[in-house]
Amino acid sequence: MNKCSILIVEDEYNQRILLSEILSKEGYTVFEAECGIAAKEIFKEKSIDLILLDFKLPDIDGLSLINFFKGINPETEIIIITAFGSIENAVNALKAGAYDYLTKPIDIDDLLIKIKKIEEKKSLIRENLVLKETLKERFKSEDFVYKSEKMQNVASLIVRVATTDSTCLITGESGTGKEIVANMIQGLSLRKEGPFVKVNCSAIPEQLLESELFGYEKGAFTGAFQRKIGKFELAHKGTIFLDEIGDMPLYLQSKLLRVLQAKEIERLGGLNPINVDIRIIAATNKNLEEEVKKGNFREDLYYRINVVRIEIPPLRERKEDIMPLVDFFIKKFTVRHRKETKEITKEARDALLKYDYPGNVRELENIIERAVVLSRGDFLTVEDFFDNASTLAPKKESGIKEVITSVEKEMILESLIKNNWVQTKAAASLGMSERMLRYKMNKYGIKK
Ligand SMILES: Nc1ncnc2c1ncn2[C@@H]1O[C@H](COP(=O)(O)OP(=O)(O)OP(=O)(O)O)[C@@H](O)[C@H]1O
Ligand SMILES: [Mg+2]
Repeated sequence: MNKCSILIVEDEYNQRILLSEILSKEGYTVFEAECGIAAKEIFKEKSIDLILLDFKLPDIDGLSLINFFKGINPETEIIIITAFGSIENAVNALKAGAYDYLTKPIDIDDLLIKIKKIEEKKSLIRENLVLKETLKERFKSEDFVYKSEKMQNVASLIVRVATTDSTCLITGESGTGKEIVANMIQGLSLRKEGPFVKVNCSAIPEQLLESELFGYEKGAFTGAFQRKIGKFELAHKGTIFLDEIGDMPLYLQSKLLRVLQAKEIERLGGLNPINVDIRIIAATNKNLEEEVKKGNFREDLYYRINVVRIEIPPLRERKEDIMPLVDFFIKKFTVRHRKETKEITKEARDALLKYDYPGNVRELENIIERAVVLSRGDFLTVEDFFDNASTLAPKKESGIKEVITSVEKEMILESLIKNNWVQTKAAASLGMSERMLRYKMNKYGIKK
């Protein structure tokens, strides 16, 4: 970052010149003002990062100057200079937003250190802005909704780690967003053009997992009729996402460890090691530390994958995220299910905020999808989400069936009305046979 521009506001000529010379020598761009009025003029014209402000000026008092500067640009930092012993001034100045204070005579080394700190702070702020932009631009981060400080930290960790090649371990309860985070890391990484291979270690039966990951040569075992390329190989030059790694059996854990160390794999029944250049992102909702203690997870592997740890807090510990997520999901599902835009009542919002979400974001998402699909009125109400407002038992997670049924019923009714209950026409417009239409009308009890 460029060096700070500094405005020295000091009525004592010698003091001002001295400071100005020292700071110019240090490479800073320096402006000088001998009184408050002059300082205001310069401040309005130039871009000033830091003001060294003598608190006792002949024309304007220090506090109102601080308010003036901060009012115009809150990012300008102010270090005030007070006479020795006037601590009260210093305290008031800090309250008004000054960054720090120095007492006369000024200790130059101390001043330079403070300026360095300010520069660091400013470049951090800028870096953060850049991160935000990067997130927004490179990964359509409007799909990754958050507001809480905890998730802001997660987001900035994602951006910082994405472009390194390090192995990441994403942990968090079920439904907190581990997969979304893995997607983001991949999407922001230098390997984003490369393959992105996902393996869910708990969804694949144990006996199959090994051959899925490593592949095999023809004849490696009965049934291996032809060579199969495994997921590790497929992920070459890209990223592999090992989901639910806590469920990986121990013998595969040692094989994985070898992949990580040697960066090569062997197909089952294969004779030659094959180089693989992959980045590993792993996720689990298990407590791996505990699993290590219990002997279910290899400690050495744990250390290998726990290089960067991204812990996603449960939704109940970041309630500030609930409303933004609610609005996001309502919008998403009204569009997806072609529903009319609906408002949501205050009581419903309160109830959604109060609820605990053992199933985290996924549960919230399901509750909302169900409500959007099934609600009838203009408003989404507590009853659309919960059985009743006091117990906050969520409506049964409606299976997709219930949803489809309801949509189908509605469409049939609509079409019949539109076609004056002429079944041939209604059936044609619905793209179903008349027989089917009659069957469904019967089933749903639709009558004129
Ligand atoms: N911050 C978020 N913004 C928007 N949608 C989110 C967010 N977090 C999670 N979701 C949504 O919630 C659902 C669950 O997220 P995801 O599958 O990433 O969670 P998970 O931690 O991998 O869950 P599991 O442990 O059950 O595999 C997904 O539909 C995802 O799109
Ligand atoms: Mg998942």
